[in-house]
Amino acid sequence: MLNDTSIVILSAGLGTRMRSRKAKVLHRAGGMSLVEHVVQTALQLTAPERILAVIGYQAEQVREVLRDVPIRFAQQLEQKGTGDALAVCRDQMESHSGKLLVLLGDCPLLSARTLRALCLRHDEAGVAATVITTTLDDPSGYGRILHDAEGHVRAIVEHRAATPEQLAIREINAGIYCFDSALLWKHIGEIRPDNPASEYYLTDIIEIFRRAGYPVASFHLDDPSEVLGINTRVELSAVDRIFRQRKTTTLMLSGVTIEKPETVTIDAAVSVGMDTVIEPFAQILGKSAVGENCRIGACSVLRDSELGEGVQVLPFSLVENSRLEQSSRVGPFSRLRMQSQLAPGAVIGNFVELKNTRVGAGSKAQHLAYLGDSQIGAGANIGAGAITCNYDGVKKHPTRIGDGAFIGSNATLVAPVEIGDGAYIGAGSVITDAVPSDALALGRSRQTTKPDWAAKRKLAISSASGTSVR
Ligand code: UD1
Ligand code: CA
Repeated sequence: MLNDTSIVILSAGLGTRMRSRKAKVLHRAGGMSLVEHVVQTALQLTAPERILAVIGYQAEQVREVLRDVPIRFAQQLEQKGTGDALAVCRDQMESHSGKLLVLLGDCPLLSARTLRALCLRHDEAGVAATVITTTLDDPSGYGRILHDAEGHVRAIVEHRAATPEQLAIREINAGIYCFDSALLWKHIGEIRPDNPASEYYLTDIIEIFRRAGYPVASFHLDDPSEVLGINTRVELSAVDRIFRQRKTTTLMLSGVTIEKPETVTIDAAVSVGMDTVIEPFAQILGKSAVGENCRIGACSVLRDSELGEGVQVLPFSLVENSRLEQSSRVGPFSRLRMQSQLAPGAVIGNFVELKNTRVGAGSKAQHLAYLGDSQIGAGANIGAGAITCNYDGVKKHPTRIGDGAFIGSNATLVAPVEIGDGAYIGAGSVITDAVPSDALALGRSRQTTKPDWAAKRKLAISSASGTSVR
């Protein structure tokens, strides 16, 4: 944590170039909205009460995605430029002494490490402000950095206001600053909207400081990737790719095998144990935790789920809000949702759906079943096509299946219903009443067979039409 440092995150703009009805900072990359990334970084540096987000466009939605963090907010009612955005924080932040970091809500890759280095440089230089800069092959759209003979920053010229010579400068303003708080608040009111866009440019503060006799330093990043701002959806996808790559690289270095990592999507908060193998196009999202020695099959999606050691998820499975204990197996083509749980060694096969269902140790449902609101004991076998009818059109009802029970193929269990330990259910049965332990229940009509029925029918049809029917 940094001493004596407050942080303002500018995130009130619409972001016209996104061509969206949604505020830019609410768009997502790396599994989180852009503004959440920046807030997470800020929280690594200082206490939440020293962090303030300037919101404006879709302020309520931005507050909503940040509801779990106790930071402050200031509302910029009209988006009159970055200088105005910072000025609206004054009442809440003026009393904070020390340094003030200004971050951008649309610049999510910037690391806490770089910001610490920025603060250090600022303190060493003893200046009024330090600006993060970098050098780009294509600097278009960015503000350009002008230095004086001593190497201090003389001014920042916005792209639109730059002369042809200034446009040739490739060192740009990343839009991220460390300020001496007291000097900033003393002079911020001097920024005037005297430019063609009639906006309050925060970048004008540099010249204001210089006129007042305070030097401004630059902090140049050799690698520009951290300060890539997002203006369009093309840039959004590029930043998303960088987040995904960071995550897969970290996991691979910690002992996870990832096949074709460029195809895999893993959210930042996910943990994966050693020697687990992740196949191409897998997605592991939200707050999922995967144990050691697991296999996550191609094109499977895990969301907010917990997997113990040695769990196998075969390709094309979807597992949400569920817990898969040690050595259990799902897929291919399984769907588990709403607090489903597999005890060790349970097996859920293709085209089986589990909703709010617990499957006991070693129990199997290998093919084509729907098990909802059910508790299944250990060592049970659920036949192909077995269905729990958990919903009567008004309410959901539970099903209980005991240890070692055998549910025949295509059985229909009408809930609420209970099947005792070791009981057998005949294939194709409709079960509406409780079945005691070790009983056999049949709930279907007995088969009748009519010998020669088909042959007689064909004969009758052909004699009526005069043609032969096979
Ligand atoms: C700004 C800088 C530019 C720099 C670039 C880096 C200015 C005048 N220019 O330009 O020198 O190279 O960032 O990315 O500062 N915002 C508000 N309220 C407003 C306007 C903007 O909160 O009234 C917020 C936006 O939500 C955004 C951030 O400030 O998160 C930057 O605004 P943007 O309009 O993208 O600035 P640029 O034109 O990119
Ligand atoms: Ca921008």
